[in-house]
Amino acid sequence: MDIASTPSNPAGNPEMADAAVEPHDPATTMRKNYQPPAWLVSEIRLEFELGLELTKCVATMRVERNPDGDGDQTLHLSGDNIAVMNLKVDDADAEGWSMSGPNLLLPLSGDAHKVTVETHLHPATNSQLMGLFASNGMLCTQCEAEGFRRITFFPDRPDVLSRYTVRMTGDKATFPVLLSNGNLVETGENGDGSHWAVWDDPWLKPSYLFALVAGQLVANRDTFTTMSGRKVDLAVWVREGDLERTDHAMRSLINSMKWDEEAFGREYDLDQFNIVAVADFNMGAMENKGLNIFNTRYVLADPETATDGDYDGVEGVVGHEYFHNWSGNRITCRDWFQLSLKEGFTVLRDQMFSADMGSEPVKRIEDVRVLRAAQFPEDSGPLAHPIRPDSYQEISNFYTATIYNKGAEVIRMMHTMAGPERFREGTDLYFDRHDGEAATCEDFVKSMEDGAKLDLSQFRLWYEQAGTPKVTMHATFDQSEGAVTLHFTQKVPATPGQPTKQPMPIPIKVALFDRDSGTHGGEQLLMVDKSKADFTFKGFTRPPVISANRGFTAPIQLDAENNDDDLVFLAAHDDDAFARYESLQQLVTRELLGSIENGPDEKRRGAIADAMGAVIDDAQIDDLMRGELLMLPTLTFLLELAAPADPVALHHARERLKAHIGLRLRDKLIALHERASAIPYGLDARARGARKVKTQALVMLTAADPKEAAARAEAQYRSATNMTDRQGALMVLAGIGCPARSELLADFHARFDGNALVIDKWFALQAGSLDPKVLDRVEALAQHADFTIKNPNRVRSLYMTMAGNMAAFHDESGRGYRMIADLVLQLDPLNAQTAARFIPWLGRWRKIEPKRAALMRAELERIAAAPDLSKDTREQVTKSLD
Ligand code: PHE
Ligand code: ZN
Repeated sequence: MDIASTPSNPAGNPEMADAAVEPHDPATTMRKNYQPPAWLVSEIRLEFELGLELTKCVATMRVERNPDGDGDQTLHLSGDNIAVMNLKVDDADAEGWSMSGPNLLLPLSGDAHKVTVETHLHPATNSQLMGLFASNGMLCTQCEAEGFRRITFFPDRPDVLSRYTVRMTGDKATFPVLLSNGNLVETGENGDGSHWAVWDDPWLKPSYLFALVAGQLVANRDTFTTMSGRKVDLAVWVREGDLERTDHAMRSLINSMKWDEEAFGREYDLDQFNIVAVADFNMGAMENKGLNIFNTRYVLADPETATDGDYDGVEGVVGHEYFHNWSGNRITCRDWFQLSLKEGFTVLRDQMFSADMGSEPVKRIEDVRVLRAAQFPEDSGPLAHPIRPDSYQEISNFYTATIYNKGAEVIRMMHTMAGPERFREGTDLYFDRHDGEAATCEDFVKSMEDGAKLDLSQFRLWYEQAGTPKVTMHATFDQSEGAVTLHFTQKVPATPGQPTKQPMPIPIKVALFDRDSGTHGGEQLLMVDKSKADFTFKGFTRPPVISANRGFTAPIQLDAENNDDDLVFLAAHDDDAFARYESLQQLVTRELLGSIENGPDEKRRGAIADAMGAVIDDAQIDDLMRGELLMLPTLTFLLELAAPADPVALHHARERLKAHIGLRLRDKLIALHERASAIPYGLDARARGARKVKTQALVMLTAADPKEAAARAEAQYRSATNMTDRQGALMVLAGIGCPARSELLADFHARFDGNALVIDKWFALQAGSLDPKVLDRVEALAQHADFTIKNPNRVRSLYMTMAGNMAAFHDESGRGYRMIADLVLQLDPLNAQTAARFIPWLGRWRKIEPKRAALMRAELERIAAAPDLSKDTREQVTKSLD
């Protein structure tokens, strides 16, 4: 609804008619300006008359003056795109209220009042997908971070905790299912074809955790009995045809509930737990109390339509949202600067959960890959911010890889320093101390100090300073003493607003290998806490090979100065799976960066191919790990190290190396593809591993022998019994100019016509392919009948994939940049949050060679010149140009 088109003065308030609307520039909110709220809301009752076009909402709040507040007599209620239809204080028409921009100011005389406000909502036209919106004929909400103010006027900040009662009434045929937070306490029929339900949530919560869902949904039901014997009814709600794809989500939920009891001692606290899948959603999922709302892509999975990666995504996100019940809901955030308090910790918890459900080392490698591809570039770019930011214009822009993934790494370092038992004592104390509160990162750190017995005084810098520390390690050997010294230096780079940095405490796990026996005398955890630090180890007769930052104990860029031979040695012998992977990655990285300037290094290329060949032959490692070891570093990661660089040149160097490896290992790769193809479908690690190496083998072969690879990929596609094989094969084919390409792409579309999540894959396969005509194809696909700019998954499947496809996005002509800028301008008025997420791709111009960088900047400037940009996009564009 547009403010301008609503009845402006429904309550007949004389002051409102001429209340000047304040101009709303993108004001900056500062962490240091935090003030406790002047008013609290102990209880709120929300009554909804539901309709897709029009929903009426009457909110009745018990407001009380906060003894810790500043005594302001005026109650400040946030609003966004809503108008006051009726306002009462203690059941009488409210007097003296006014609007300040979108917000409602209500002067109150006493210390406690009943405030009733009515608002009218238009879910069907809510394209922002914040507040109450319609998706596929159902009604659904999204309130984090500041969406509740699009439903009713409220002190919409996370430190106002209230008890919620929700009554919904609506047409029974349109909305047979009525869900909200907490427990269902009453239902009834109105006798006119409509019905109602009342939900009561006994747990105090902030407004961002409120949720409501109404629509034609069916449930996959199960139960879980908690450790203290509480029986919980579980349901995963989806649209009719999707029910058969919900078993994995349900299994993941049950596993999460059990795991949180065992790993963190956390028990579920309501009689019901509901998950709802919606097709139109800006993010992955949302942890609303007792009523998690999910993007369909993190709920629906079956072998035919979901890849193994999709299965892992479902398990991880179901876990993540469930774990928020404690790390987020029972203990929430005092203000949005504390976002990493819940997100960093919850990401760590979901990573630990997934590691326990599958393979720990493989999970670690995957998580580090994501960190390097998404967080490192952010940390070294114009949008860099600490995991606890100091300011923001639009909080939606701060749901970042830094807050989430680096936030998790920071808490993981505490885990590493304390060890598992003491870490658990720390988290126990945190949950115990702050249950029911809106807490801060500082509260968490203090609990860790007290509970895990750590001194974190210097460690707090990890919360304050942005930027990925650059660490170097240089080893010297003193023959006469038999002593090895590791000389470390660290430097935290300057980031926007933080020109100078202090040294941080960096926990680095090392092992010193004997070259001949291939063994080491035990791991050590070193704390590098100054800009220079030396560590000496005795008892060596010759220089050892040093394996450093094992398990990636610290989120840093480490230059360990290992020579090629050392890297080859570690790639073959390291008993830390991550370190083994890392050595091979370093060797490849060195070759790729070097080859851009000096052409390929034959000896090193040979060593890489040999090492990869050894990985293929090594019977000690499983296929899941083998698949990781055979993967080359991502271009985004390489670009970080090479910047400023020509990304297309980097891409070609990477393809050339793939071709070299593919040629050298042709027979091994074919044998691997054949061995893996013989293993029947299953969800066990062995079968999953086989599928992973199967497609990896094809990818390597493609660069070397496209004809052979195409024939194999075509056969793999045609005989595929599952999406992992099918998508893998089609991904390979989509990049090769072979006859089967268009036939099989058409087959894929026809086969899955009507399944939105698979059609997303169809778009992504083409936008992400190695085909030199990608940009033409993306342009054509944007005109395809199945393309819609209204569905965020669809937009991302086409345009995010293209933006991440370096060879296409960085096309010399600048056309890729222009397409993304055009999209942003078109999408911004409809869905600002999703539009703003495209800006960082263009914002990376400083990492790119000058010619392309100028084109990227020009597109940012074109966006910046648009008159009515959203706050979201405005903030990102302005910062990216600075
Ligand atoms: N809090 C959600 C999560 O991390 C993410 C989210 C943020 C969803 C904002 C919607 C809006 O689980
Ligand atoms: Zn989260």
